[in-house]
Amino acid sequence: FGYLNYLVERDRRFIMDTLVNGLSRLEYRGYDSAGFACDGDSDDTAIIIKQVGKVSALKKLVDEQQIDFDKAFISHCGMAHTRWATHGQPSQLNCHPQRSDVNNEFTVVHNGIITNYKEIKLLLTKKGYVFESDTDTECVAKLTKYIYEDQKDSPNFTFTTLVKAVAKELEGSFAFIFKSTHFPNEIVATRRGSPLLVGVKTAKKLKVDFVDVEFSNPVEAPSSTAKDANNFLAAADNGQPQLLQRSQSRAFLSEDGLPQPIEYFLASDASAIVEHTKRVLYLEDDDIAHIADGELHIHRLRRDENGATPSATTRSIQTLEIELAEIMKGSFDHFMQKEIYEQPESVVNTMRGRVNFENHKVTLGGLRGYLNIIRRARRIVFIACGTSYHSCLATRGVFEELTEIPTQIDIASDFLDRRTPIFRDDVCVFVSQSGETADTILSMRYCLERGALCVGITNTVGSSISRESHCGVHINAGPEIGVASTKAYTSQYIALVMMAIQLSEDRVSTIERRKEIIDGLYRLPGHIKEVLAGADNLQQLSSQTLSKEKSLLIMGRGYQSATCLEGALKIKEISYMHSEGILAGELKHGTLALVDENMPVILIMTKDSLYPKVQSALSQVTSRKGQPIIICNTGDQNLVNEFKTIPVPQTTDCLQGLVNIIPLQLLSYYLALLKGQDVDFPRNLAKSVTVE
Ligand code: G6P
Repeated sequence: FGYLNYLVERDRRFIMDTLVNGLSRLEYRGYDSAGFACDGDSDDTAIIIKQVGKVSALKKLVDEQQIDFDKAFISHCGMAHTRWATHGQPSQLNCHPQRSDVNNEFTVVHNGIITNYKEIKLLLTKKGYVFESDTDTECVAKLTKYIYEDQKDSPNFTFTTLVKAVAKELEGSFAFIFKSTHFPNEIVATRRGSPLLVGVKTAKKLKVDFVDVEFSNPVEAPSSTAKDANNFLAAADNGQPQLLQRSQSRAFLSEDGLPQPIEYFLASDASAIVEHTKRVLYLEDDDIAHIADGELHIHRLRRDENGATPSATTRSIQTLEIELAEIMKGSFDHFMQKEIYEQPESVVNTMRGRVNFENHKVTLGGLRGYLNIIRRARRIVFIACGTSYHSCLATRGVFEELTEIPTQIDIASDFLDRRTPIFRDDVCVFVSQSGETADTILSMRYCLERGALCVGITNTVGSSISRESHCGVHINAGPEIGVASTKAYTSQYIALVMMAIQLSEDRVSTIERRKEIIDGLYRLPGHIKEVLAGADNLQQLSSQTLSKEKSLLIMGRGYQSATCLEGALKIKEISYMHSEGILAGELKHGTLALVDENMPVILIMTKDSLYPKVQSALSQVTSRKGQPIIICNTGDQNLVNEFKTIPVPQTTDCLQGLVNIIPLQLLSYYLALLKGQDVDFPRNLAKSVTVE
């Protein structure tokens, strides 16, 4: 998170509070330590405050500082960071900001991993630099100082050229903010592979809604961009593309060239910005954003591959659609609880304007123009991680049934490890709540390179996946803060079902089936509410039967296989209880060895065509003295009389997983509470995994 004020008087207390508050909004992304840097009493000094643990610990430490909180700054820049350790233990030294030297000449915050940091460290160590942390980021701070010392007297040397020179040396993924005592009140930020956006707040309306991108070298304007009137790569009068010189790059945001009071907020995601401003600009990979004298300029690190210009030569300012209230807990104790209870509405938001329940039609605007290409695909490959992967598994059956296109589902990291063959006539679908998961993005770029059509299914407008894919669907579930994904799962599930329905609308043979599913979607919010109303039963079950157990098996088959895997993942993630999702058809091939009177088992036995087969799994369990708890349809009397049950309303077979997952989400929540775990911030996990 970064904050810069220009011609707006702010005292130190305000600046520090803004930085720490920005971090608390981002804390759900990673949270083992936190820190920030801001100006000391003069421009050429910087204060760094860091603390291990959650942002609240940092806040406490700030309050204990003996510093002048009332000192006012007309212009100032600060940076802050909450860390999820990849290199080096969580410790005060390893927290960010990392610094170049004891005088804090250059301070850096970083999201990502620098893969060639060892080489850089070796080089700098030989040059006499002494390292104080185990982080890859410290190398970047020190490299910045090294290059500064080397180049500071060169002509045209600026903070931007310095960061450009640093970024050119780096491999890996990053979003960086740089601050320096040599360049007071300036920020340079850059990204490659990790998200970064800039919020802009002014009292006056902005005169222009875009920033021109400045190239590091003069480049020839491609004729395709010449038609854009807003674009500085405009054609010369003769209609021919012209060569651009750096001096032609226009500055922006100072109305009519006059300085105006302005504040900038930089963050890894919009949730830290929305309370300040809704006007944001998303940086692209290899953009270098420089903020100074109230103006934001964006430069490109280099000419893109083969000397070509990047596809977009402006970055426009967009309006965020999320509200602050959506990222606040409201009357709930935890974000996860709130998000579970939001599902009757979030599923409606996913369908809104897309599903016509009267004439049984689905229209996904984001796939317009691409439907026939997808229908003609030789296969559809779904690629995702974690819960998003489970949403693909959950909908594979209905996708295959309705579209009759062969489908393949891959975990993104494994997809990359195998260097899976991908061809031009493949369609690849990337499902990601955040749209920023590194493995999923890398898989997408791999498929883009091979000419496949790439479809993004994300919850985050403006995310890398939504920007870089050819087409896609936003699931519109609203911001999800709890690390354990809940409402995003049900919305992804629905998005994929809607996609299957729309793709099959040219097939007469599936009309009735489509109607049945759309009717099921109509009833879904009511069904979810019904399950939520039974939460007390689940709370009791957790406290009386499950919370003291070490392990839990969740079994089911067919449409419910994914529900088992997702339910088990929820329980592991937040209650730290070992739990395994078992495909009931595989029970006799191994897992049955674990079953006895002491092994807790949940069996999903809602009614569909596989019900008889699940009955045989039930017999296999009970004949080994297992005492399963059964998720069954309300009114399935045989089961209700004989077993502990979790009743759920019955719906269309391929949507039943949307209903069945709710009790497992609740169960994981109650188990985590009973075990005293931090529901929204499970240890070792992060919401958005932007590193490989
Ligand atoms: C992390 C989160 C999971 C999430 C997974 C994929 O592991 O903790 O909840 O399912 O990433 O995230 P994505 O944003 O790509 O859906």
